[in-house]
Amino acid sequence: MKKDLLNIYDLEDADFEKIWSKAKKLKKDLKNGKPHNSLQGKTLGMIFDKSSTRTRISFEVGMYQLGGIALFLTSRDTQIGRGETISDSAQMMSRYLNGIMIRTFSQKSVEDFARYASIPVINGLTDILHPCQILSDLFTIKEKKGSYDGLKIAYIGDGNNIANTWIEAAAKLPIQLSLACPEGYDPDRKIMIKGKKEAKEGITLYRDPLDAAKDADVLYTDVWVSMGQESENEERKKIFKNYQINKRLLKEAKKNAIVMHCLPAHRGEEITSDVIDGPQSVVIDQAENRLHVQKAILEILL
Ligand code: CP
Ligand code: NVA
Repeated sequence: MKKDLLNIYDLEDADFEKIWSKAKKLKKDLKNGKPHNSLQGKTLGMIFDKSSTRTRISFEVGMYQLGGIALFLTSRDTQIGRGETISDSAQMMSRYLNGIMIRTFSQKSVEDFARYASIPVINGLTDILHPCQILSDLFTIKEKKGSYDGLKIAYIGDGNNIANTWIEAAAKLPIQLSLACPEGYDPDRKIMIKGKKEAKEGITLYRDPLDAAKDADVLYTDVWVSMGQESENEERKKIFKNYQINKRLLKEAKKNAIVMHCLPAHRGEEITSDVIDGPQSVVIDQAENRLHVQKAILEILL
């Protein structure tokens, strides 16, 4: 039966270890110039309804490095943008392709696509979730810290797709998650209720970033204004102004804490330049690992 990756719950416990070990090997082999052709003759369709730099490049290059190809499809330039239904698109594309990656607005669209498609569907970001990002980030934490078991991850900022996906990760894996979000900008209510019930090491939501950051092993943030929220820009900048990773906040975390950001970043807003460009920041390694982890995901699903 085909397997999708629409959220973190789609993965079974054993899948996590499988992804980490494959990604580690693929990364090492790439550095040593050892080629792979596990996806020779396979094609991934990539539907983008929102902008992307990392997701597009890492999936496209990842498919190429594994011997397959990727097609960049935007709804503007396909019949999806002219009203062709998800059901027709998904069934028909399943006859041409071996997998589909979608970045769009509604999580339901991705779920509907997966329901009608007979090939694996990968969520490349929705308004609600970004599973490929958090899986890559967990791999980066393992690389930097040896293991994520028992570590405290502090997420500071908007209760958005990245925050929601961290909550799902904390429900499946032994990480302590603390979040600091301003009132009215909490993570998705349903995701939080389920996450808290199933959390391995606890999930705590604070209002004060200093409380969330205390003794953290990882300080994580994301933009205050996500794609699709551009009209709220000015209002959000005021509301979020204290939810910034800066030197003062970094002092609250453990001395050897690492700083993470999924990127793109807005220096001077959710994070200061001295911190994101400083010695504790791992954001570029984090972006690189999207490639290795997604190649592992593609090998497993396709
Ligand atoms: N982090 C991330 O998904 O980046 P892009 O929006 O550039 O794909
Ligand atoms: N929360 C951001 C993440 C970008 C990778 C957004 O949805 O725009």
